[in-house]
Amino acid sequence: MPETAPTIDGGGHPHGSPPATTPETGPTGSGTATPPAAPGPASLALVGTHGHGTSHLGHVRSLARAGAVRLAAVVDPHPLATPAEVAEGAARGQRLASADDVPEGTVWHPDLAGLLAAGAPDVVILCTPIDTHAPLATAALEAGCDVLLEKPPTASLAELEQLVATQERTGRTVQVGFQTYGSHAVARVREIVASGEIGTVTGVGGVGTWVRPDTYWTRARWAGRRTLDGRAVVDGVVTNPLAHAVATALLLAGASRAQDVAHVELDLAHANPIEADDTSSVRVTTTDGLRVALGLTLCAAVQTPPHLVVHGTAGRVVLHYTRDVLEVTGPGGTRTETCARDDLLENLLAHRADPAVPLHAPLVATGAFMRVLDAVRAAPDPVAIDAAHVDDVTDEQGRHLVVRGVEELCTQVAETLRTFGELGAPWTRSAGTAGGAA
Ligand SMILES: NC(=O)c1ccc[n+]([C@@H]2O[C@H](COP(=O)([O-])OP(=O)(O)OC[C@H]3O[C@@H](n4cnc5c(N)ncnc54)[C@H](O)[C@@H]3O)[C@@H](O)[C@H]2O)c1
Repeated sequence: MPETAPTIDGGGHPHGSPPATTPETGPTGSGTATPPAAPGPASLALVGTHGHGTSHLGHVRSLARAGAVRLAAVVDPHPLATPAEVAEGAARGQRLASADDVPEGTVWHPDLAGLLAAGAPDVVILCTPIDTHAPLATAALEAGCDVLLEKPPTASLAELEQLVATQERTGRTVQVGFQTYGSHAVARVREIVASGEIGTVTGVGGVGTWVRPDTYWTRARWAGRRTLDGRAVVDGVVTNPLAHAVATALLLAGASRAQDVAHVELDLAHANPIEADDTSSVRVTTTDGLRVALGLTLCAAVQTPPHLVVHGTAGRVVLHYTRDVLEVTGPGGTRTETCARDDLLENLLAHRADPAVPLHAPLVATGAFMRVLDAVRAAPDPVAIDAAHVDDVTDEQGRHLVVRGVEELCTQVAETLRTFGELGAPWTRSAGTAGGAA
């Protein structure tokens, strides 16, 4: 990236570009309505450029080409990589961004403080390790930015509550990167349930059987950690890679806020040599008394798309949430529906331009998921699965560990709403957390 690149907009507006329509652009004291200023493209910075940040860069570039945003800066302690470093990183399981991934003239800052000192952009995308989310989001909000914050939003429920308070005090907006919150499939499932087609809902199940090679766990210091440098990280299968399954299952059960969760039961285990869990069952009882149970692993023999099941007395709806596809089985048979999805960054931009546009994934709507994360954080260390149950496999996905029979167990959790322990998984030690809303 050229050293001579212009810095972000240092113009009159503290957020780097003219404000979108806000209450300040409404009627004036003279009684004449001031037309809203024509909104220019929002200035945007990506914090955490490598790893999943590379996906954000691709999307931001296409929005920039469409004139919706202007990528003002990227922030990462590691500068943009050379093409040779990108190739070397790929061999180590790392996705590195290079200068080819950003528009000419994009400024690089090694830390968020440097960016904010140079001039806060309208929006920051935070795509950094979990333990950094709360401090970085707080700093961005205090500087007047709106935030697209990757999931999980924070490393504890207490941090979430503090961040909600900061967001309310600053009057800024935080959208959490749970993509399925933008899926029309969730509302469609609610419609189908309300129509009575599947009878009375008896529970929600979920299956996630993924493969993660050993390079996934060695790609970053925080990978697979429960804590790092004395701070919670909570990077396990329930709270990070398959967090979407948990959060979406809770949404389908009508639980989004922390107070919607009554009880969390966990069987946390790991086959990989990590602190956190890679093979877990989680069962949540909502305050409505509905049970939500998921069998989740990163130690499957082959990677399969995750799915959720809404069980009814007269049928079921299966949601393939990565594809927004529904399979609806009722008295009339089975049919498939494919739903649309709203992009979360575009939704955040639309909400900035017109606050009447509802935000899909506000912080408070992740409270139910965060009750689960907090239970995982506070639970005893996961059980180490005995090597007798584990195969060490090397194939086209790299070297990875396979827990024998785990796919069937995960399916049984979703179908029967029983935990790994209740299903007799040989390694389990159930850890329950009682309680009402925190
Ligand atoms: N929504 C999704 O589907 C999805 C998918 C993958 C990852 N994620 C989330 O994205 C986030 C990042 O995950 P990852 O796998 O890309 O992690 P990673 O460790 O591979 O990459 C994180 C990047 O952040 C940088 N970084 C670390 N500390 C920083 C700081 N203080 N300021 C600026 N940059 C910093 C690192 O140098 C690195 O480039 C996590 O919250 C993860 O859960 C979301």
